[in-house]
Amino acid sequence: MALSPFFVFPHETHMNELDALVDSARVAFAQAATPADLENAKAQYIGKSGRITELMKGMATLSVEEKKTRGAAINLAKQAIEAALAERRQALADAELQAQLKAEALDVTLPGRQRGQGGLHPVSLTLERIEAIFGSQGFEVAEGPEIESDWFNFTALNTPEDHPARSMHDTFYVEGGSAKAPNLLRTHTSPMQIRHAVQHVKRHRAALDAGLPMPEIRVIAPGRTYRVDSDATHSPMFHQCEGLWIGENVSFKDLKVVFTDFCRTFFESDDLVLRFRPSFFPFTEPSAEIDIQFQSGPLAGRWLEVAGSGQVHPNVVRNMGLDPERYIGFAFGMGPDRLTMLRYGVNDLRLFFDGDIRFLSQFR
Ligand code: DAH
Repeated sequence: MALSPFFVFPHETHMNELDALVDSARVAFAQAATPADLENAKAQYIGKSGRITELMKGMATLSVEEKKTRGAAINLAKQAIEAALAERRQALADAELQAQLKAEALDVTLPGRQRGQGGLHPVSLTLERIEAIFGSQGFEVAEGPEIESDWFNFTALNTPEDHPARSMHDTFYVEGGSAKAPNLLRTHTSPMQIRHAVQHVKRHRAALDAGLPMPEIRVIAPGRTYRVDSDATHSPMFHQCEGLWIGENVSFKDLKVVFTDFCRTFFESDDLVLRFRPSFFPFTEPSAEIDIQFQSGPLAGRWLEVAGSGQVHPNVVRNMGLDPERYIGFAFGMGPDRLTMLRYGVNDLRLFFDGDIRFLSQFR
């Protein structure tokens, strides 16, 4: 068919126009920086009153043949625009995801958040040390109540009714008990001598009744004690550790050996001497204060009191359920708080009980 120079294929004009439309849609989509912008741009092309819809409507006047070609071409353009739209949607979604990942990025090379590290209280460290040292010498460790009866705290320990320690000035009395036998916060760990010995005797009752030898009582009893007292070297709550060794043939010599050994091990020094200074306690006879003296170091040359001690009084042995003619031994009571102060060079007891983490963390 010969072509008139004036004839232009209708679909060619339309083609170019449609290509341009697709191109401009691509540009508009590319310029949309957000999903919302993109949806606006979409509406201009393939929305209800968009350009494609307009072109469709414009076909009304065309012949059936033209409608076919024109319609197919418009559809192709529409599909191309939809593909461009889908592509841009995906690109925006990817970009958003990337931005989010970047914003939430973890720097795995940063040091982690540290958990606060706890540690034992310096007095607890001392108690552990005392238990380990006496444990290695064959002593059991016993624990007892901090609320005590008058009997265990005083009477059973041969403490007379009018002893000054019983006064309200020294002792915290608590509710419960009777006027004659009030309850109190134990003023020392010595009541554990009686409590432990009574249990021990009970356990070996059969052997005792059969005239067999009773295994020796060898025990320490560390714990909290209370007195109405407060200054740089006294706290209303403080610690004591009781020691008791009872058998058929236990002497003061044994106390000296055991306690000297303990002090040298505790302070990790053989450069240390002990002195047993005569004293008085109702529950021992004879009684002695134990002083130690370092021969070198910052405390050298001073006598430092570390414990009370003595041979257990016959009345106390009797209150343990034992015959004082047959059983004999010694006891001691020391102050773990004092030992801690000496070991670490702390000069105010109250620091131990203020709970200041800056002080306490030095002992970790
Ligand atoms: N209980 C005494 C006090 O608190 C210390 C003491 C002294 C304990 C002599 C003893 C001992 O076992 O034999 O002062």
